Amino acid sequence: TKIAVLLSGNGSNLQAFLDSTLRDNIALVISNKADAFGLQRAIDANIEHCFIDPKVFENREQFDAAIAEKLNKADIDLVILAGYMRILSDEFVAEFEGRMINIHPSLLPKYPGLNTHQRAIDAGDDTHGCSVHFVTPELDAGPVILQAKVPVFEGDDADELRARIQVQEHLIYPMVAQWFCQNRLSMQDGQAYLDGNVL
Ligand code: GRF
Repeated sequence: TKIAVLLSGNGSNLQAFLDSTLRDNIALVISNKADAFGLQRAIDANIEHCFIDPKVFENREQFDAAIAEKLNKADIDLVILAGYMRILSDEFVAEFEGRMINIHPSLLPKYPGLNTHQRAIDAGDDTHGCSVHFVTPELDAGPVILQAKVPVFEGDDADELRARIQVQEHLIYPMVAQWFCQNRLSMQDGQAYLDGNVL
């Protein structure tokens, strides 16, 4: 199974993959930000990588088509979104449906979108977490595969909560990808299945 990781920033989730048993499956890293530290992690790990500049494309569809071409040329089986901060075109989502997953820092369906940690604190939640889900056209709304929960402590700020959740992200994201590589995971009719059972 050949995996591509799409990112825009730090790439700590990419690092978790590179430190996992899936290391040799990571075939390509793509960033839409020239200065993403995730690109440096790819360089250090000797993984094929590229920056694709959204500014040189006329629209989202053309940019996404360039990404899709890269992925197809590299024969990618599984697309991992890891802090990839761009909305995907419907065409792109359709092309990779069932073989593209994302990690989102909330217990979906709670808090799709941005600033999830502050929103959980502001709401007085005593539990927060992260979700790995298949990507569908609606943002952060695809079927959930696996979640991890963490406690929210009195006085937590968003950074403390983010750090607590990232520890969990780095555990569950490679685990889910491993299921995919073992052909145990699929999406049908908008539902996620593990070993033939609806999740
Ligand atoms: C993670 O918190 C993830 O949940 C969100 O973006 C962040 C990426 O972090 N989708 P990193 O770049 O992997 O460190």
